[in-house]
Amino acid sequence: MKKTFYTFLLLCLSISFISASIGSDGDPISTKIALGRKLFSEKILSKDSSVSCASCHKPEFAFADTVAFSLGIEGKLTKRNTPSVLNMKNRPYYFYDGRAASLEEQSLMPIQNPDEMGLPIDEAVSRLNASPVYKTLFKKIFREAPSAKNLSSALAAYEETLETVNSKFDDWSNNLRDLSPSEERGRKLFVGDKAKCFDCHAMEDFTTDDFRNIGLYNGKDLVDAGLFNITKKETDLGKFKTPGLRNVAVTAPYMHNGIFKTLDEVIEYYNDPSKVVENSLNMDQALMKPLGLSVLEKKDLVAFLRTLTDRKFLSAKKNGPVSVKKKGQ
Ligand code: HEC
Ligand code: HEC
Repeated sequence: MKKTFYTFLLLCLSISFISASIGSDGDPISTKIALGRKLFSEKILSKDSSVSCASCHKPEFAFADTVAFSLGIEGKLTKRNTPSVLNMKNRPYYFYDGRAASLEEQSLMPIQNPDEMGLPIDEAVSRLNASPVYKTLFKKIFREAPSAKNLSSALAAYEETLETVNSKFDDWSNNLRDLSPSEERGRKLFVGDKAKCFDCHAMEDFTTDDFRNIGLYNGKDLVDAGLFNITKKETDLGKFKTPGLRNVAVTAPYMHNGIFKTLDEVIEYYNDPSKVVENSLNMDQALMKPLGLSVLEKKDLVAFLRTLTDRKFLSAKKNGPVSVKKKGQ
């Protein structure tokens, strides 16, 4: 009787071990990328095992969150809006104030951040080492036990696969499809001198990877000083990393503090920042004069921004979570 019980127990343990070693796509986990994908949704990397990277960077919303400030451990809120982590490969730095220089360096910071996952890295590494599943997976993939270095390397490898290039805009630039008249007018405005978006949102991911101040700092009710917090240079007051705009229609609310709920509000703001924020400090010269956009022009700009949504997120809100599986994962 006892023997049968132990055989049964062993069987159950092996089944749960095997199933934990299988990725969400049903294939056994055998690459750094697949391991990183599993770790991205792993809650034991947070102090009370309640939060994973994917709790805030929600795959179904282009890896951003749907609220201004996200919920970390113990009901704490993040200090900034959760940005999308799509198209992060080869960015020169990470975070709104650029405080991480690589995806590897970045990935260990939310684990330790007391408002996010709140777990010292040594503890995170011990937890992985204490898990037979992770120990085996790390040994198989890295030929060594879990460490801070290979943990960050797996998370970064996964994030580097999250590139999106299948939007209506991409079809247009590959001469496969026309934009609608409104989208095309919006595109011309976007790159032209009237709306000036392209001054800052240029290149393939619609960012120059620069720090700029668009007027969302006044030292009174808008107090996040952005880059200044890192450099302590007066000229950096209120500067934030210019975010890329791919999939932006799916990542509301907007800006470092989630101040705008819709793209219409964003355009309304750019049209005349002083109507929304009085006495902003150190604002960029490019935005000093109201743009003077007509109602139609504002609509056209939003229509253009909507062409930047990758096909896999087009039905995000309607149909719930979507699979973001990539080839070779
Ligand atoms: C509780 C919510 C939360 C969790 C959990 C979380 N993040 Fe974030 N993430 C944020 C916020 C908020 C920011 C922006 C912070 C800033 O710029 O100061 C951010 C920024 C980032 C960035 C930089 C994006 C950019 O545009 O520069 C990356 C990459 C990232 N997170 C990856 C991760 C990974 C990997 C994990 C898990 C190990 C994780 N995040 C866990 C909320 C979260
Ligand atoms: C002077 C540089 C500059 C110009 C010009 C500019 N932007 Fe931005 N944009 C930024 C910066 C910097 C941010 C981030 C600010 C923050 O978070 O506080 C931003 C944020 C955004 C966001 C929010 C993205 C997100 O994920 O939260 C959208 C949408 C956007 N810009 C669209 C536009 C459009 C459309 C135009 C033209 C009408 C434009 N921008 C002109 C620098 C610029």
